[in-house]
Amino acid sequence: MAVSGGRTLIPITALIASVLCAVLLLQQVESAYQRPKEVQTERPVIGIVTIPEAGCLHFGDQVVVSSNARWLQAGGTRVVPIFYDSTPEELDYILNRVNGVFWSGGPVFFNPHTESHSGSLYLRTTEYILKHVMRENRRGNYFPLWGTCLGFERMVQLVAEDAEASIVKPVDAENYAINLGFTDVAFESRLFRSMNAELFKEVASPATRLAFNNHGLGIHPDYFHNITNLSRHFSVLSVDLDRHGKPFVSTVEGKRYPLYGSQWHPEKPPWEWSPDWVLSHTNMAIQLSNYFGRFFVEECRYNKNKFESPELEDKLLLHNWNTIPASAILSIDPTVFIPFMEYYCIDRSKVPSYDFITKRSKQVSSA
Ligand SMILES: *[C@@H]1O[C@H](CO)[C@@H](O)[C@H](O)[C@H]1NC(C)=O
Ligand SMILES: *[C@@H]1O[C@H](CO)[C@@H](O)[C@H](O)[C@H]1NC(C)=O
Repeated sequence: MAVSGGRTLIPITALIASVLCAVLLLQQVESAYQRPKEVQTERPVIGIVTIPEAGCLHFGDQVVVSSNARWLQAGGTRVVPIFYDSTPEELDYILNRVNGVFWSGGPVFFNPHTESHSGSLYLRTTEYILKHVMRENRRGNYFPLWGTCLGFERMVQLVAEDAEASIVKPVDAENYAINLGFTDVAFESRLFRSMNAELFKEVASPATRLAFNNHGLGIHPDYFHNITNLSRHFSVLSVDLDRHGKPFVSTVEGKRYPLYGSQWHPEKPPWEWSPDWVLSHTNMAIQLSNYFGRFFVEECRYNKNKFESPELEDKLLLHNWNTIPASAILSIDPTVFIPFMEYYCIDRSKVPSYDFITKRSKQVSSA
């Protein structure tokens, strides 16, 4: 009995082992990060999700802060706004045409039970976009997403499937400049490995404090070990301490997909000059900003989406809106708090739907 049992057992164990191997192999194949060999476009377009902003007064109801757009544009891309209150159809339309998406910082609350209509639309839209980005990457269309500050927190919260936003906790890091506390894997990471040695050293140096933080919430590094979805998806590249020594994750990159997140603000040094901010404008701070802008745009060149025509693309680009200097808003209402140099203020009620634009461009091209 023991022998015959053993005989049947061996093939079964072997079978189980080979199935396990196959599963492990499949998982490895699925999980391996892979960028296409060839650049897909040298004319990338990146979508920036707008932020609801009542402070725009009569200029609009949502904004793209200019520094975010400039940061990307200086890296060699055009940008289009993705309205935070887009319908799923509008999101499908734009997401199938842009080469990557950027989520900026901004004042939106994570409370899933929020009574703020605009806040809940922002949460819905970002969730829709993340699902799209994950799906495209799984299907082999390389689709980069970068989140900064609010955008970073939102991306991590979504990947963790933390509906209650319980991993996003108060920290004291507003108007706070610090060096990046690199982890062991930072040096070999995609994000940092091409950085020149001098800049890498300066970014790590407590003497220079090149990373500008401006957030009252943060995510503890332990969550990236003890929440499976986070450890599966993200490498933690830097961790910093707030004013009271509380750690928060400050830079991450995706292990499987081109997801990037910074709790700090790479976009500000060349473009924001508020004297109230402890923001470094040294040559190294500018280099750091440019390095990341160019890095992300380069990632987006590997995505294969495109607009059907240059005319259609042009109609959706951010340059169709005017920038409003902060002083123009302050001259109407001095009590509005605006720490930025300028905004693109978008009045959604005056934006024609994508359908309309498509039809019109067809009429134009057939005329
Ligand atoms: C998170 O984990 C759950 C359960 O394992 C899984 O179904 C889900 O797809 C994961 N989400 C992401 C974004 O990987
Ligand atoms: C994960 O880490 C956080 C932060 O330290 C801790 O509060 C939480 O209890 C941990 N959760 C588990 C399941 O270990």
